[in-house]
Amino acid sequence: MSKTVHYLKDYRSPAYEVCKTDLHFDIFDSHTQVKSRLVVNPKRAGEPLVLDGSAELLSLKIDGETVAYELDLANEKLTVRDVPSESFVVEVETRLLPQENKSLMGLYESGGNLFTQCEPEGFRKMTFYPDRPDVMSKFTTTITADKKRYPVLLSNGNKIDGGNLSDGRHWVKWVDPFAKPSYLFALVAGDLAVTKDTFTTQSGREVAVEFYTTEADKPKVPFAVESLKHAMKWDEARFGLEYDLDVFMVVAVGDFNMGAMENKGLNIFNTKYVLADSQTATDADFEGIESVIGHEYFHNWTGNRVTCRDWFQLSLKEGLTVFRDQEFSGDRAGREVRRIENVRLLRQHQFPEDAGPTAHPVRPASYEEMNNFYTMTVYEKGAEVVRMYHTLLGEEGFQKGMKLYFQRHDGQAVTCDDFRAAMADANGVNLDQFALWYSQAGTPVLAVTGRLKDNGDYVLNVKQSIPATPDMAEKQPMMMPLKVALLDAESGVQTAFGYQGAIVNEAVLVVTEAEQEFTLAGVGRKVVPSLLRGFSAPVHLNYPYSDAELALLLSHDTDAFARWEAAQTLYRRAVGANEHALSQGVPLPGHGELLAAVGYVLRADVNPAFKTLLLQVPSESELWADGSDIDPMRVYRAREALLDLIAQTYANEIAELRLTAQDQEEQGGGEVYEYEPDRAGWRVLRNAMRALALRAEPKTIDFIALEYDKMAQNMTHEWGMLSAANHHESGKRNELLDKFAAKFADDALVMDKYFTLIGSSRRSDTLQQVQTALSHLKFSLENPNKARSLLGAFSRNVPHFHAENGSGYAFLAGKVLEIDRFNPQVAARLVQAFNICNKLEPKRRALMRAELQGIAAQEGLSKDVAEIVGKILA
Ligand code: ARG
Ligand code: ZN
Repeated sequence: MSKTVHYLKDYRSPAYEVCKTDLHFDIFDSHTQVKSRLVVNPKRAGEPLVLDGSAELLSLKIDGETVAYELDLANEKLTVRDVPSESFVVEVETRLLPQENKSLMGLYESGGNLFTQCEPEGFRKMTFYPDRPDVMSKFTTTITADKKRYPVLLSNGNKIDGGNLSDGRHWVKWVDPFAKPSYLFALVAGDLAVTKDTFTTQSGREVAVEFYTTEADKPKVPFAVESLKHAMKWDEARFGLEYDLDVFMVVAVGDFNMGAMENKGLNIFNTKYVLADSQTATDADFEGIESVIGHEYFHNWTGNRVTCRDWFQLSLKEGLTVFRDQEFSGDRAGREVRRIENVRLLRQHQFPEDAGPTAHPVRPASYEEMNNFYTMTVYEKGAEVVRMYHTLLGEEGFQKGMKLYFQRHDGQAVTCDDFRAAMADANGVNLDQFALWYSQAGTPVLAVTGRLKDNGDYVLNVKQSIPATPDMAEKQPMMMPLKVALLDAESGVQTAFGYQGAIVNEAVLVVTEAEQEFTLAGVGRKVVPSLLRGFSAPVHLNYPYSDAELALLLSHDTDAFARWEAAQTLYRRAVGANEHALSQGVPLPGHGELLAAVGYVLRADVNPAFKTLLLQVPSESELWADGSDIDPMRVYRAREALLDLIAQTYANEIAELRLTAQDQEEQGGGEVYEYEPDRAGWRVLRNAMRALALRAEPKTIDFIALEYDKMAQNMTHEWGMLSAANHHESGKRNELLDKFAAKFADDALVMDKYFTLIGSSRRSDTLQQVQTALSHLKFSLENPNKARSLLGAFSRNVPHFHAENGSGYAFLAGKVLEIDRFNPQVAARLVQAFNICNKLEPKRRALMRAELQGIAAQEGLSKDVAEIVGKILA
C-alpha cells in the first residue's frame, strides 16, 4: 500500500462550500440507507468537485441527473470533473452495514442500538461529502426506523417533527440551526431510557437536559447530570459563555474509541464518563466524569461555535478545552492538587511522547492518519500552551483575548495563529515568538543558576535548549513564563525583591533568549530560588539544588507545585542512586536525607490529597523519559527498592496515618459513602497507606481479606484494597479477585477494573493470567474499554511487558495485529507501548524490533498502525 502523507503547508481553502445538508437515514434490520441532498456553492468554479467517502455508493446525481465520476478507493475520494459553475444540488445514496462495523467510526451498532462517531473522518464512512472542518453547513436530519426496536431517534439541534409510518415504523426530523462541519454530526437510534432535567441560563432561557442510557443504568446517571449543570453555570460565571440550543443531550455507549464526543447538541459518551455510583465508581472515576462532562460541554464554544480550519489545528479546540476543563475541575475542588495531577499526567505520558519517535509539535506539520494525532501533545501540552498565555497575560488579559477571539471568529473555522492573534491584539502585546510553541516539538530544557552579587542583587541565569526531534534538528529559543520566588536560605521564609520597578514576592520572568540573565534586586541575603512555580511552562528545569535546599523547599515553599517538585527531585535522585548501585553490584545507599524528607511529609500538616502526592515516587516511564540504553528491570528494581525502604522505615507512622485517614473519613459522613472532595482526599491517603503497609508486611493481606466485606460498600475502598493486594503471590489474592469478578459480573465498567488488575499485577504468573482472561466470559477484544483495561495495563506493567525473554513484547504484538483487523484506532494506541524501542538496552531493543518488523510486514496492515510502527523503525 502506498502511503499518503498530508501536509499543513499544502492547505487550500475549499473550492466548493455546502450551504445546506439534508440527510435521510432509513434504518432497517439488515442495513441502513443514507440519502443526502447538498446545496453546493462554487467558490472556485471550474475546479473539479471532490468528495470524501468510503461507503457503498448506490447513486450520485447533480441537479437531478446522473453524472460521470471517478472513484479513488485507496484515498477515499470521489471526483466529478464537470459541475455547474453556479449553485447546484448534489444527491448521494449510500448503503451501510452498521452491525458489521467494528471500527466504531461512522455508523456502528453497540448493544443493539446505533451510534455515530464522525470526528475526525468518520462522516465519510456514511456518505460522500467534503469531509473537512472548514466546510460548514446547516444540517437537517430525518430518521426512519422500526418504532419498537428504535423508539428513540436523535440527531443534532432541535426535533421539529415526527410521526408514525406504516409497518410499525416511525420517523423524526431534526434541524440544527447552527452551521457546522461534518465531524460534529451525530445520530443515535435505539431503545434507550432518558433522565431529564433542566438548566436556566443566566439570561433566563430554559434548556432541557437529557441523558440517554439503558434503563438499568438510570440510577447511575445523576452525578453526571449534576456535573453538567455545574459546568453550564461555571462557563457563564468564568467565561461569560451561555448555552445556545433548547436541548442538550448526552448519550452513553459501552463501545467507544475515546472518552466522549462534543457533537452539536448531542454529545456521545463512553459509559465510563457518565455512569457512576459509590458502589461501582471510585472517587477518581467521579472526578473523571466531572472533568469529561465539563470538557465536552465547553467544546460547544471552543470547538463548535469556533472550530478548526483543518486537522493540523486540532489543538486550537482541544488544548483550549482541556485548559478550560482543568480550570473547571480546579475551581470545583482542590486547585493545587489538581494542578499537580495535570503535571504528573503530562510528565508520565506527554514528555515521553515528546522525546520519542512519534514526537510532533502541538500543531503537527504532517500526518498519515489523523486519528493518530489525538495525542497527549495536542491535548495536554496544548493546554499548557494555553495556560502560558494565561500566565503571561493574567486572568483579565486572557479573558479579553477570549472575548476578541469570539468577536472575530464566531461561526468560523480558524487556526492556532488566529487564537494567538486575538490574545496579542486584545492585550496590545507582541506574541510572534510564542508561535514557536506550535511548530517546535520536544520538551525544552531550562538550565538555571543563581548568584548573589556584592550589591545584594540576586541574578538568575537561564539557558534554554530544545532537544532535536525526528522532524527537526535545530530549534529556536521560545518565549515562556518562568514564575519565581526566593526563600531565605536559613528560615525558608519568602523574601521580597525588586523587579521591574516594584517590590514583589513573586515574579513572572519572560524568557525569550537562548541565554538570559534576570536581576532580582535588593535581596541582600542567602536565598534558595523557588522556580517554575505552578509549573509555569511545560519544560524540564534543572537547577543545582543541594538535597538540603530541596528539603527546605519541600517544607517551606508556599507554592504547592514547587514543594511537590522538590520531593520529586529527591525521589528521582534516590532512584538514580539505587540504579547506579545495582549496575555496580554494590549495596544500595541508605538515603538518609530522603528518608528525613519523607518523615517530614508523613508528619506534615497538609491536606491529605496533597500529602499523598508528596509521597508518590515518579513512575518508571517518567524516570526513564530521556534515558538511553535503558534496562527497564533495573529502573523498576531501583524504584521498588526505594519504596520498600520507605515502607519499612516508616511502618509505624504509615499504620498510624492509615488510622487517622480512616477516622477523618468517617467523621466526614459516617457510613454513607458518597463522593465528596474532602473525604476523597482522606480515602486516597488511606489507600496509599494501605499499599505501603502491605509492602512492608505481606502478611497484612490477611487483614485486608478480613476487612474486605465490611469495606466493600464503596468502590474506592474496594479498589484500594485490591490494588494493594494485587501483587501478592498468595492464593488469597486470587480469591479476592475472583470474589470481586463474581460480585460485579454484570457491571461492564467494574469488570474493566478487574481486567486492569489482572493486566497490572506483578505476580509471576501475570502473562498466563492475562491469557486466561482473554477468554473470560465478560471479556471482549472488540470492546475498547476491555482491550485497554487488560492489554493497556499489561503494556505498562514493567516487569512483565519487558520480560527478558521477550514474551511480553511477542504477546502484545500478536494482540495488536488481531485488533488491527477490525479496529485500527485501538491497535495504533496499543502499539505505542513500543515507542521506547530505540532507547532500550541492546538485547531488548533487538527483541522489540523483531516484533515491530513482524507487524510492519503484515499484509493489510492499517495506515494507523503502519504510521506508528514506521516512525519507530525509521
Ligand atoms: N473531540 C473529542 C474530545 O473531546 C475526541 C474525539 C476523538 N475521536 C477519535 N476517534 N479520534 O476530545
Ligand atoms: Zn476535546
